[in-house]
Amino acid sequence: MKGKRVLVTGGAGFIGSNMCNKLLEENEVLAIDNFMNVDDRYIKDLLGNENFSFRKADITVDSDMEKLENEGQFDAVIHLAANSDVRGGSVDTHIDLNVNVQGTYNVLEFCRKTDIGEIMFASSSTVTGEAAIIPTPESYGPPAPISTYGASKLAGEGFISAYSHYYGIRGTTFRFANIVGRNSTHGVIFDFLMKLKKDPRRLEILGDGTQRKSYLHVDDCVAGMLHLHKVSSRTDVFNLGNSETTSVMDIARFVVDGLGLPDVKLETTVTEGGRGWRGDVKYAQLSTEKAEKAGWKSTMSSDKSVERAVKEMISQLREQSVI
Ligand SMILES: NC(=O)c1ccc[n+]([C@@H]2O[C@H](COP(=O)([O-])OP(=O)(O)OC[C@H]3O[C@@H](n4cnc5c(N)ncnc54)[C@H](O)[C@@H]3O)[C@@H](O)[C@H]2O)c1
Repeated sequence: MKGKRVLVTGGAGFIGSNMCNKLLEENEVLAIDNFMNVDDRYIKDLLGNENFSFRKADITVDSDMEKLENEGQFDAVIHLAANSDVRGGSVDTHIDLNVNVQGTYNVLEFCRKTDIGEIMFASSSTVTGEAAIIPTPESYGPPAPISTYGASKLAGEGFISAYSHYYGIRGTTFRFANIVGRNSTHGVIFDFLMKLKKDPRRLEILGDGTQRKSYLHVDDCVAGMLHLHKVSSRTDVFNLGNSETTSVMDIARFVVDGLGLPDVKLETTVTEGGRGWRGDVKYAQLSTEKAEKAGWKSTMSSDKSVERAVKEMISQLREQSVI
């Protein structure tokens, strides 16, 4: 993407702030966020850039979306705003419907009303549920999400497809594996670091620790989104992940080693089927064949992505005196 004016929803968040940073190399960016999951800490440095602006706005609030109509014409939207807490949906069953489904609909309505021709949408590996085929290709079906988060992302994909059909808005949907790296606001590495801050002698691992998923560094994720959207000339779906997996127990060891803590007791918890929580998919690995055929490949393996993310996050959170 070059010389474009781009609206990034969820721009203050983990992937959003990394995306804004990358886009600013060659584009003008307006980021919006309601600070539901994070404050302005990851966009503060960007505010001095004349090509960057930020508005506090909630994608579920009609008046906030209407105000955006006065911000001038955008060439494309990168829609990342969401409830990103997969676990939360089993406690508050409304949140994914409200933020991820209604919010995505509102963003698409904004695109329709203001004649924006392109959207990139952050979906997730959770849309397929417990897939019988691993690595799971984009064509796998029928999708059967086991969390309201997965269900809401699947609905979002459907709305992107429908708006593309009705109004010719070209949409690229990305089904992310687990994205890791600097500016993280949540996720397993973040959780472990926070728990070890509270008690550096023991680490509670949700589930039996054998859960295996594919992890992708955020730099690879952002580069993959921009490349695949550019080369795909029609509305399409791409998996973005790594072709190997890392277990939760291995992540715990990377974190403990990264902090240099001696003798940490790793304690697994007894849960149904060894899952981390209700709605957790125990083994997730997306096939990256389609993205690779379209010219994208991650530069770091799953283990390397985790290892690098652990280092980046420890140094960033220490700088912020969070840990
Ligand atoms: N990080 C991952 O591993 C991963 C995996 C699959 C999919 N995704 C998706 O990628 C996108 C970005 O995720 P992330 O990891 O950066 O999470 P994040 O929570 O850091 O980013 C989401 C941002 O959206 C904002 N937001 C939430 N509700 C909003 C609302 N109503 N209006 C405006 N802003 C709102 C939050 O404050 C946050 O800054 C999300 O759509 C998420 O579901 C992430």
